[in-house]
Amino acid sequence: MSSFKQIVELIADDLTAVETKLTEQTASEYSFVDMAVQHVVEGGGKRLRPILVVLSAKACGYEGNDAHTLAAVVELIHVASLVHDDVLDEAAIRRGRETLQTKWGNKVAVLVGDYLHARVLSMLVARRADDPAMAILADTTQAMCEGEVIHAYKSGDFDISEDEYLKIISFKTGKLIAASCTLGAHLGTTDKQRLEAITNYGQHIGTAFQIVDDVLDFTEDTDKLGKNAFGDLREGKLTFPIIYARSLCNADEKQTLERVLNPNTDEAAAIAFVESLFQRYSVEAHCLKVAQGYADHAKAALAALTETPARRALEQLADYVVARES
Ligand code: FPP
Ligand code: MG
Repeated sequence: MSSFKQIVELIADDLTAVETKLTEQTASEYSFVDMAVQHVVEGGGKRLRPILVVLSAKACGYEGNDAHTLAAVVELIHVASLVHDDVLDEAAIRRGRETLQTKWGNKVAVLVGDYLHARVLSMLVARRADDPAMAILADTTQAMCEGEVIHAYKSGDFDISEDEYLKIISFKTGKLIAASCTLGAHLGTTDKQRLEAITNYGQHIGTAFQIVDDVLDFTEDTDKLGKNAFGDLREGKLTFPIIYARSLCNADEKQTLERVLNPNTDEAAAIAFVESLFQRYSVEAHCLKVAQGYADHAKAALAALTETPARRALEQLADYVVARES
């Protein structure tokens, strides 16, 4: 059995409770709203962020049920951000299903994203007014928006550096993954050092996760990904592998790369050229090495916690984030 499946099995009851919360808390009495919302809420996905909340809570000694609400909250923020991201990226499929804007148009997609955020607020308010989760999630959603805006703003900038890009992904992806860990940890501990360690863990696996996401866009097929392969390339999006490859290109290759990243170029030729760069500069191996470096940092941060099955599962999850194929 894969280590991911084992982790899921370890917390199977918790994950079932989270699924129930997700459905119950997003139900709408209006049937079309309900259909559109459930299309994305029940639309699969690895549930990585809920897993992180539950495991981080357990790794800090928490045994209660509040982790299920927080796990559902982070997943809903994630789903809402993906619904909006798919509008921005004009993506046709996500998690193996048609995206909302493909099925029902942009207006429905934008509103379903907003609806999910409204549900998140209600769920947080229902917990407690003095809840630290409020501040953590307010900061997180703000950073995610900032990350996406900066990324969109920089989209035509071929000179974006690796460091700038890493900053963007630490915002758009790392923050919510780190928040998932911090929220869970808060349930079990107030110890600053442990909270910091687990937040660091989340931030690092978040960066590893997005680097691998960028690589998979070039190396996996649409069926496996549940979203269109070469989607980033088609949009002319500069992602980690392209930024790395470009830093090694000669002047001619740079020119060709800029040409093929233009959405109006012949797609097959663009893919062939980028694949040739991947070969020549061992791009995939380099990116996976960088991602593994982040995963190793993440694991090292966990040394501040007592050794428990939950800590061990978090360590395995860091490796899974790099080894995954979808
Ligand atoms: C997917 O990136 C998108 C994100 C990780 C973040 C999306 C954030 C926003 C739309 C900002 C608004 C968010 C909130 C919470 C209000 P990707 O396009 O690189 O990955 P993909 O290939 O899965 O689409
Ligand atoms: Mg996208």
